[in-house]
Amino acid sequence: MQLGPLQLTSNLFLSPLAGYTNLPFRLTLREVGGVGLATTDLVNARSLLEKNPKALKLIETAPADRPLAVQLFGSVPEEMRDAAVYLESLGVASVDINMGCPVRKVCRVGGGSAMMTEMDKTANLVKGMVQAVKIPITTKMRLGWDDQNLTAPDLARALEAVGVAAIFIHGRTREQGFSGTINLDGIRAVVEAVEQIPVIGNGDVTTPEAAKKMLDETGCAGVSIGRGAFYNPWIFQHTLHFLKTGELLPEPRFEERVRVMCRHLDLMVEVFGEGHGCRMFRKVAPWYAKRFGPANEFNKRVVQISSKAEFHDVLESYLRWRRQFVDENGELRPRFQPAPMVASFMQEPEVARREQIPVPKGPVEVW
Ligand SMILES: Cc1cc2nc3c(=O)[nH]c(=O)nc-3n(C[C@H](O)[C@H](O)[C@H](O)COP(=O)(O)O)c2cc1C
Repeated sequence: MQLGPLQLTSNLFLSPLAGYTNLPFRLTLREVGGVGLATTDLVNARSLLEKNPKALKLIETAPADRPLAVQLFGSVPEEMRDAAVYLESLGVASVDINMGCPVRKVCRVGGGSAMMTEMDKTANLVKGMVQAVKIPITTKMRLGWDDQNLTAPDLARALEAVGVAAIFIHGRTREQGFSGTINLDGIRAVVEAVEQIPVIGNGDVTTPEAAKKMLDETGCAGVSIGRGAFYNPWIFQHTLHFLKTGELLPEPRFEERVRVMCRHLDLMVEVFGEGHGCRMFRKVAPWYAKRFGPANEFNKRVVQISSKAEFHDVLESYLRWRRQFVDENGELRPRFQPAPMVASFMQEPEVARREQIPVPKGPVEVW
């Protein structure tokens, strides 16, 4: 997979998830394997230029966290350009521009989805960034503002003309929020609109089969995965294997899920300190637990941890409690096993509506 001058080892990308795609999560996913390029949470260009400590924390990285893209948002061309130049000087591999953020705070200042309705202005802003740096500039967008305004194909073509290296497209409109299903035809329309740059499809990919369906039916060059990686940090590695061999690897065993969860916590503590890292982990651990089988005892208590010792207490008593649900080989008895994941666009619409992937709560509930 080629992104401008950047050679990637896989065509699978980690989508930006504000509040989640921090250094510890990215390192955890990279250790599990299969990620071609990981992205930070969105970062305000002006805050970055002002060296605001929160913005600097969002771009914190490490040697094992490569290649790394930083996602910027903003609507002032000079600020976006200077922020890209600054990121290039730090060794960041590529810069992504947020055009698909439906949060009011971002749209009000002309960034995010608002950019999709002002094509010339946006193309000029992007051109200024492309001309100022050698690293690839990419953009991430939705299909358009609403079903009557599916502007993504036109915008993608205009952005290719000013030199963007790739387009990430979430197959929903701004109006849809996170409801409804992914519009694969809408993604295909973007693929068909550009001449040669890669288009990366995104939305509701929770299994290797879903990634393959998105690639096959839209002609996109790669797939970007967000919430699917919460449930399943193995999704990149398993998808890569499936795309190469057609073979589906077995789901990771419970012990492996617990091992990776503990590693994730260790990295959170390393990067954010014990108290803050553990408090942040309160919203992360329940995502791992969604694939544990019965886990209410764990979920109730893990949202109160403030130290690693407390976490391990919670985990140990959960492991004892969970024994009642397993057979003599330590496997969950069939009736306690979580239902297999199926992507929204691989289900009947009625079922897809019922089984939407939750949008995590927290500072990002408006996404
Ligand atoms: C909690 C949360 C935070 C998000 N933060 C960002 C962000 O910072 N920038 C962005 O472009 N998209 C953001 N998104 C959108 C995702 O990158 C992605 O496009 C969307 O979740 C669909 O992909 P998925 O179904 O694989 O998660 C966010 C989504 C969620 C649920």
